[in-house]
Amino acid sequence: MSALPRPIINELRAVVGDTWVVVEEKAIERYLYDETAYGVRPQPIKDVIVVKPGSTEEVAEVLRIANKYKVPVYVRGGGTGLVGGAIPIKPGIVMSLERMDKVIIDSENMVAEVEAGASFGKLLEEADKHNLMFPAHPGDEGASVGGLIACNAGGSRAVKTGVVRSYVLGLEVVLPSGEVLKLGAKTIKNNFGYNLAHLFIGSEGILGVITRAYLRLYPKWGYTATVIIPFDSRVKAFRAAKKLLFSGFIPLALEYFDRRVIETSAKYLGLQWPIKEGDYFLMIMLAEALEDTLFLELEYLDRVAREEESLEPFATQRDDEQKTLLKIRSEIFSSLKSETFDILDTTVPLGNVDRFIENIIDVEKRYGIWLPVYGHVGDGNVHVHVLNYQGFSRDQLEKITEEVYNAALMLGGVITGEHGIGYIRRKYVKRLLGDTWIETMRKLKAVLDPNNVLNPGKVLPEE
Ligand code: LAC
Ligand code: ZN
Repeated sequence: MSALPRPIINELRAVVGDTWVVVEEKAIERYLYDETAYGVRPQPIKDVIVVKPGSTEEVAEVLRIANKYKVPVYVRGGGTGLVGGAIPIKPGIVMSLERMDKVIIDSENMVAEVEAGASFGKLLEEADKHNLMFPAHPGDEGASVGGLIACNAGGSRAVKTGVVRSYVLGLEVVLPSGEVLKLGAKTIKNNFGYNLAHLFIGSEGILGVITRAYLRLYPKWGYTATVIIPFDSRVKAFRAAKKLLFSGFIPLALEYFDRRVIETSAKYLGLQWPIKEGDYFLMIMLAEALEDTLFLELEYLDRVAREEESLEPFATQRDDEQKTLLKIRSEIFSSLKSETFDILDTTVPLGNVDRFIENIIDVEKRYGIWLPVYGHVGDGNVHVHVLNYQGFSRDQLEKITEEVYNAALMLGGVITGEHGIGYIRRKYVKRLLGDTWIETMRKLKAVLDPNNVLNPGKVLPEE
């Protein structure tokens, strides 16, 4: 039972209705966690109540009450984050936007008007009915659209489409004061004043609550193909990846993984990785409006593969086969999760991605461990997994994590390309982002959220 005083709970009930305030411990349990790896996941506080507003006005009222009593509010979408961003760590309110899940497709303007609690899967489905699509694909389709925007999610297609930020035309945001800020329009261009929307995109829930968005849609690509190019060495795979990036066309995805990780995932799914040759793979997804363009690209890939001494490439245009290959790639994290201390998403400039991997191999050798590496080689964002190695202390696992961070930083990279800071990477902020960054962030936070009610204990370091 929550320690939140009864009169506050009653005020909240009066706003959203009795049914939408959850206080029973059992029913709250599923609102306490996200997908963060167990090794680094913060312990959630159980002393929270879950409030489920049904409209922007109700969100505003809930925030007014929270502000009045200085009660922390943890906003929650699909709970698919990997850095503890949605995990409540102070007693207060978990605000779930699950009831706000409307998706309206304005097909003439190619814009989706989406409530924050709608799942990414629902957005895709609704857009599909109009032969439209959301270009970026940040992975888990159970994520909520509000969460994708608040965390500026990335994903495999970033190489071609960029990240979620690129498709947000307008936003409705409720400030901690309860004021509603409407930003942007259904236009592609909008140069009227500060682009405040971009302040909230990627703010990880500490500045305001995103309740609605206009998202840019594209016509569906007519033709797609997936190509797997196997290599007998990692060096060759990375050299080929770099060459492909200079080919003049940009693939929809350019991913790297090795046999050991991809077979772990296939086994976890009860499937078989179909490629017999080679231990190091590039997975290239192509998507074009015209089939002729796709064929020309396939021919080009084949030529580069041969020049770069690949083994026999595998290409398919069949939907079912493409889906299976992508599924196996997408579930690598899930298949390793039970053994994972932390999944990292360091990102380096494109030209340094092969040097980064060489440094990771060096760390592996020095510690005598396996560091699974896979992911978005096309945008420099490859995932290194630090596993729960037997006989290693927490300090040692953290040391290994730092070694990976240092390898990325040394090469001009960043410690997070897509998963964000959330809770678990906050301790690196001071060292890596510097006092001026922190002070500027704090000032902005103080203007918008003077009582620090929104997602306290996240992103910014402890004062
Ligand atoms: C991936 C997620 C974990 O790329 O970012 O698989
Ligand atoms: Zn990723």
